[in-house]
Amino acid sequence: IGLTCGIDIGGTKIAGAVVDEQGTVVDEHRVVSPANDAQAIDDAIAELVLELARRHEIVAVGVGAAGYVDAGRRKVMFAPNIAWRDEDLGGELEARVNLPVVVENDANAAAWGEFTFGAAADAHDMLMVTVGTGVGGGIVANGELYRGAFGVAAEIGHMRVVRGGRQCGCGNLGCLEQYASGSALVRGTRALADQPEAAALLARAGGDVDAIDGPLITAAAADGDPFAISRVSELGTWLGEAVASLANILDPGSVVIGGGVSEAGDLLLDPVRRAFEQQVIGRGVRPLLDVRAASLGNRAGVIGAADLARR
Ligand code: BGC
Ligand code: NA
Ligand code: ZN
Repeated sequence: IGLTCGIDIGGTKIAGAVVDEQGTVVDEHRVVSPANDAQAIDDAIAELVLELARRHEIVAVGVGAAGYVDAGRRKVMFAPNIAWRDEDLGGELEARVNLPVVVENDANAAAWGEFTFGAAADAHDMLMVTVGTGVGGGIVANGELYRGAFGVAAEIGHMRVVRGGRQCGCGNLGCLEQYASGSALVRGTRALADQPEAAALLARAGGDVDAIDGPLITAAAADGDPFAISRVSELGTWLGEAVASLANILDPGSVVIGGGVSEAGDLLLDPVRRAFEQQVIGRGVRPLLDVRAASLGNRAGVIGAADLARR
């Protein structure tokens, strides 16, 4: 049915793409996310869609949003890292762009993109883990996106991994995303910036602790900086242990890791694999799942959302 538009609303940016039936991005546009203002975010999304609709004949819009989306795929009930509270994103957008709109959780959309066109195109059962501002999850079970009874399944970032642990934006303590998100990586690394082993990384940031961000840490790790490598590896270990717990329940054939930090490749994935293999039940006797990096990169969300808008 022609071209659809996919929107991916992250903690730092809003990406929009026009996508064809084969999952090919024919045009795209991104804007900085107006961080903590729900109305401004809605405005930015509407403008983004209208801009792309001026350039192409679009038949539907799919929106991936970083929060709990209702089963009707219209409302964001709550978002731990964005100012949405019972937000009728779908309704508002439909009224403003005059096109059918489907809203989906951002990590579910990314999972659907990687399953349909990307790293897990050969799989039947897969788990997607997105590592960014938060930690997102998407489950494809038996070839279908698993949403649960109320639309909010696969919130793996909020599995409790530390009792009485760090405060999370969801209201609970000790959630996985407080240890294994890109934000946690940056926060933890900045907190260690005055340690001798961080000297090279700090120099790379021009001596400015606040200039230490995710891309800087992964680039330093890729260049062989032992401190950066150990930081990325620790994140991978948290993820691998979580993946083991999830695999005990879901038994997916492959796990796809996405988000900016996944650009560290095996520096991240090897620790994930190692921790997974040390934790999963039946190790030594069960077949081991495949841990892969997202192949659609940061476009997995827009491509998945655009495809979901067709269904
Ligand atoms: C949210 C999820 C979202 C994930 C990644 C988490 O904090 O609860 O809904 O998918 O971040 O953006
Ligand atoms: Na999800
Ligand atoms: Zn949480």
